[in-house]
Amino acid sequence: MDFIAPELQDYVEQHSENEPKILQELSRETWQKVLQPRMLSGHFQGRLLSLISKLVQPTSILEIGTYTGYSTLSLAEGLSKAGKIHTIDRNEELYDFQRRYFDKSGFGTQIFQYTGDAQKIIPEINAKFDLVFIDADKKSYPAYFELIIDKLRSGGLILSDNVLWSGKVIQEINPKDEDTKALVHYNRLLKEDPRIETVLLPIRDGLTLSRKL
Ligand SMILES: C[S@@+](CC[C@H](N)C(=O)[O-])C[C@H]1O[C@@H](n2cnc3c(N)ncnc32)[C@H](O)[C@@H]1O
Repeated sequence: MDFIAPELQDYVEQHSENEPKILQELSRETWQKVLQPRMLSGHFQGRLLSLISKLVQPTSILEIGTYTGYSTLSLAEGLSKAGKIHTIDRNEELYDFQRRYFDKSGFGTQIFQYTGDAQKIIPEINAKFDLVFIDADKKSYPAYFELIIDKLRSGGLILSDNVLWSGKVIQEINPKDEDTKALVHYNRLLKEDPRIETVLLPIRDGLTLSRKL
């Protein structure tokens, strides 16, 4: 679903930062070799993640949903010198692909990969986070929020992707559609939780920014 006219989207991209070479390469190889390449954040959202990360200057980032590492590397651009990213994906087949690009990027020693179900792995990571990017299975978003909120520093930021779910969040919900049900619940939860302040941005498939008070 296009939220704005494709011509306007082109204009937006042409007037935003250029995509770094390594991310162009990663994107090309993902489209050539990996299933479901549409899951990758891509040029525009990647530049936004990079800019947000540079504003936050995090020392500790948690990413839920690595895929081929596009968003990991975009977020890494804002890391402080001693900063680290913990990134989780349940698909073990992507591990070597991710590592190749992480090492090539120069951020390799700052990126820690975890393979498995994020709901099991998050409690095992002994760290506090300045920035969390949630971009995995939609039905777990409310559970992810509960698992990370006490690990997020005051002033820290949660970025939640795909919160508009191609517009399904305002349509009549098919009772079997667990993803949409979870996202409707999640969007309300973010709006109402007194521990955070939240703005939902209608960018791509919807990206919510929530800052911990
Ligand atoms: C939309 S893709 C992530 C895209 C990536 N953040 C980017 O912007 O390029 C979602 C990823 O979440 C992973 N995933 C789905 N459910 C998961 C779970 N329960 N635990 C860990 N990873 C999961 C999938 O394997 C997939 O690679």
